[in-house]
Amino acid sequence: MAESKVQTIGVLTSGGDAPGMNAAIRAVVRRGLANGLKVKGIYKGYVGLLNEEIVDLTARDVSDTIQRGGTILYTARCPEFRTEEGQQRGAEICRKHGIEGLVVIGGDGSFAGAQKLANLGVNTIGVPGTIDLDIGCTEYTIGFDTAVNTAMEAIDKVRDTSTSHERCSIIEVMGRGAGYLALWCGIANGAEDVLIPEKYDYDEQKLINNIIESRKRGKKHHIIINAEGIGHSEAMARRIEAATGIETRATILGHMQRGGSPTCKDRMYASIMGAKAVDLLIEGKTCRVVGYRHGDFVDFDINEALAMKKTIDEYEWEVNRALSRNYTKHPTMKTPLE
Ligand code: ADP
Ligand code: F6P
Repeated sequence: MAESKVQTIGVLTSGGDAPGMNAAIRAVVRRGLANGLKVKGIYKGYVGLLNEEIVDLTARDVSDTIQRGGTILYTARCPEFRTEEGQQRGAEICRKHGIEGLVVIGGDGSFAGAQKLANLGVNTIGVPGTIDLDIGCTEYTIGFDTAVNTAMEAIDKVRDTSTSHERCSIIEVMGRGAGYLALWCGIANGAEDVLIPEKYDYDEQKLINNIIESRKRGKKHHIIINAEGIGHSEAMARRIEAATGIETRATILGHMQRGGSPTCKDRMYASIMGAKAVDLLIEGKTCRVVGYRHGDFVDFDINEALAMKKTIDEYEWEVNRALSRNYTKHPTMKTPLE
C-alpha cells in the first residue's frame, strides 16, 4: 500500500449500539496498526470526544472482543454536537490529540456529525452500524442480522405459547422509523399480519376482520408483528380482544434485540467495513461512508449517502402479504385439536 496520508486515526461508536460494532472497532485498530498508524479510541461517541475521553489502543486492547455484543467504546447521543460550537470544539480536540482521520460507526445521525467534522478539516469515514437497516446507501448495516435473528427466535417462542392457548399475540419489535426488522420477522416467523411505519394505514378494523376470518378458517393462533414506530401494542391487544373475543397478549421485545453475541455475518461484514474505512483514510479520502451493495463493499460521499432514501422493497412487502393472508385450509386437513 502507498504511503499513508494520515499518521494517527481515531474511532468512535455513536447512536444506538449494535452487535458487531466491536468487530468493526477491532478491524479499525488492527488494520491501522498493521499500516504503522497510531489508533485512538474515543469513548461514548461525540460526548466522549467533547470530554476528551480518548485513549491509545493496542492490538491487545481489542482481543477477545469480536464475539461480544454492545460496544467496548460505549456509545451516547450528544445534543451539543448538533451545534456549530460543539462541532468546532470537536474538530479542535481532534487536532489537539493529533487525530487526522476519524472512523465513525453509527447511523445517519452520526454520519451527519462526521460530515460536519469533515467540513472542519478532520478526515472522516462513516461505517453503518444500526439494527434498523435504515441507511439509504447500503443493503447491510452492522447489527441487523443479529437483531433480526434474536427477534425471530423470541417470536418463535411466543408463538409456542400463543398456539397452546389459542391466543392472538401482538409482538412489538424495534424500529421507530423503519420496518425492516418487522418485515423480515413477518416473513421469517410466518406472521398473520405485519404493521410497519412505512405502510401502516391505521385500518385496525381490517386487522380485526383478518383475525376473525382466519380463526373461522381454523387458525389456532394469530401472530401480529408490530413495529415500534407504530407502538401502542398493549392498547391494541386490548382492543383486538374486545372486538374478536379472542384472548390477546402484547409482548414488547425491546432492547434485548440490540444485545447478544453477533452472528457470523455481522462479525465478518463489520470486520471488512472497519478495515475498508482505514484503507480509505490511508488513501487520503474524507467525508465517505462505507456501504454494501450488489455483493460488493463500496463507499459513497457522505452528503450523497445522507440524501439517499431507503424504502421498503415492494416485492418483499407483497410476498409477505401473500404468504400471510392466502392461507386456506384444505377441506380434508385437520388441526391437532379437531
Ligand atoms: P444514529 O447515528 O444511530 O442515527 P442519532 O440520530 O441519535 O443516531 O445520532 C447520534 C448522534 O450524532 C447525535 O446524538 C448527535 O451527537 C450526532 N448528530 C446527529 N445529527 C447530527 C447533525 N445534524 N449534526 C451534527 N451531529 C449530529
Ligand atoms: O438503534 C436503533 C434503535 O434500537 C431503534 O430501533 C429504536 O427506536 C431506538 O434505537 C431506541 O433507542 P434508545 O436506546 O434510546 O431506547
